[in-house]
Amino acid sequence: MTYKDFIPSTYTHDKTEGKVTYKSPSNIALVKYWGKKDYQIPANPSISFTLGHSATTTTMGYKKLKNKASDFSFDLLFEGRSKEDFRYKISTFLKRAEPYLPFLKAYHFTIETSNSFPHSSGIASSASGMSALALCLMELERELNPNMEPDFFKKKASFLARLGSGSACRSIEGDIMQWGAHKDTQMSSDLYAIRYPYMVHPIFKNYQDTILLVDKGSKQISSSLGHNLMLHHTFAQQRFDQAHKNLTKLKRIFEEGDLLEFIKIVESEALTLHAMMMTSMPYFILMKPNTLEIINKIWAFRATSKTHVCFTLDAGANVHLLYPENEKQEIYQFINNELVAYCENGQYICDQIGNGAEKL
Ligand code: PMV
Repeated sequence: MTYKDFIPSTYTHDKTEGKVTYKSPSNIALVKYWGKKDYQIPANPSISFTLGHSATTTTMGYKKLKNKASDFSFDLLFEGRSKEDFRYKISTFLKRAEPYLPFLKAYHFTIETSNSFPHSSGIASSASGMSALALCLMELERELNPNMEPDFFKKKASFLARLGSGSACRSIEGDIMQWGAHKDTQMSSDLYAIRYPYMVHPIFKNYQDTILLVDKGSKQISSSLGHNLMLHHTFAQQRFDQAHKNLTKLKRIFEEGDLLEFIKIVESEALTLHAMMMTSMPYFILMKPNTLEIINKIWAFRATSKTHVCFTLDAGANVHLLYPENEKQEIYQFINNELVAYCENGQYICDQIGNGAEKL
């Protein structure tokens, strides 16, 4: 598929007003997307676990205007209040989406959104937020074109979500999503994410993700800025090649449930992401002392226990602990005994792999 396939030619129906609600989850990348080309095209392919509980719920009301407006017309409430920086992000998103959703200026939208995770927990809400909004807009497009195929609906929702925030395209479905053209993954595309198409060993079913909230403050640097710094990064090409290779390696690992090799890829990806940040110009560090304390504790625990707990990191200081469901009790004890002390106000979030967004 190409961009052109997402530009509608005509709409068969009309819709004057309505309301739709979607709940869309966050996701955690195993192979990381870091670096992009124009129009939110990833510099390398990535793969993620869709989360089950950390989600954004968005209700979008829409009402057709008498005449098409010259600009986007929308009201925005985030957890019951207006939020200026969010307005700006949504305007940017709508601008990028307009060629594919030509009805956008013909409606007034009322967007109400809230997150299941605590406000300012340092958890990126852009993936869940942008995917929820993209799905609401697709629902309106489906009203205008009721014959739309379900597969096209999902692809276009992912395509649009990507225009808001790259990683958001991986939040439409579950349980494992891949985004970005990769020679060893059939049907993979830079334009949208696909459900991982190969066999996955049952050990990954209900895989756990406990998010340790190390630093709840806002990020010092936005991910857009970070992506842009990869443009002229000394190690960019090697990094992009490595991501392709890691995805190829994951195929056997997923199929056989080889957790030892899984751990090596996931932890190396997390540290490489942060190594790219530390070696860009300007350079920056998003990990905090407690991030490193936790990583060392995990390594020590893994060496003495028979568990397969490993960590990954987003563009922030929080640590995601990934482990199989059958090791849950032992890992909870470890978290409570040894890791909670490094979390801000002792806070952490228990999540697990999930099945993607749902219409409410
Ligand atoms: O979707 P963005 O532009 O916020 O970038 C997300 C980048 C990482 O979370 C660091 C990695 C990823 O693949 O999700």
